[in-house]
Amino acid sequence: MGIENTQKIEILPVGSKTVDCAAIIQWAETWDWGVGNVVAGRLNVNEFDGWEAAIVLTVDEQYAGFCFLEKHDAWGTDLDPAITPFITAVYIDPRFRGRRLSEKLLNAAFGYARSLEFEAVYLISGEKGFYEKYGFEKFAQTVTRRSTTEPVYRRRIN
Ligand SMILES: CC(C)(COP(=O)(O)OP(=O)(O)OC[C@H]1O[C@@H](n2cnc3c(N)ncnc32)[C@H](O)[C@@H]1OP(=O)(O)O)[C@@H](O)C(=O)NCCC(=O)NCCS
Repeated sequence: MGIENTQKIEILPVGSKTVDCAAIIQWAETWDWGVGNVVAGRLNVNEFDGWEAAIVLTVDEQYAGFCFLEKHDAWGTDLDPAITPFITAVYIDPRFRGRRLSEKLLNAAFGYARSLEFEAVYLISGEKGFYEKYGFEKFAQTVTRRSTTEPVYRRRIN
């Protein structure tokens, strides 16, 4: 990928129920990560509302990165509902990995959350040492839908 590549980030307001997600659904179904099917299914039934958004990164008009900013992450079963918002389903397509595009994606999510006047964002992840690179700190832990325990991270954005 040379400097001539055009990277674009779009904040798709899926909570508005007006976004056509057909192409993203098709892409999510190809992901090498099981969460892709969950993302496709959730976009298909559009269970989002309010300010909730899908954040999509393209490189030369090809889908390269994805995440949601949403009120809660249903993967955690025992979280205080006052803890919000969550970044979920962070994904970089294998063709575009290894270039820190996840940092661009997360920065866009932080910017959007900041525009909504949140002072921090949260996420649940079992990945060790990844989100720490982007300023997240362990904040709590949660029992997941699979009855495992995973850390909840917080990133201050103010
Ligand atoms: C994890 C993922 C988003 C990283 O994508 P990326 O932007 O291409 O990341 P990069 O390869 O550029 O790595 C960025 C940095 O994080 C590190 N890193 C990458 N994946 C990591 C992981 N799974 N665990 C810990 N560190 C990781 C890299 O070594 C690199 O560190 P450095 O810049 O200090 O050398 C991508 O591999 C992916 O989508 N994987 C499948 C889905 C997934 O696991 N999502 C996150 C789960 S919550």
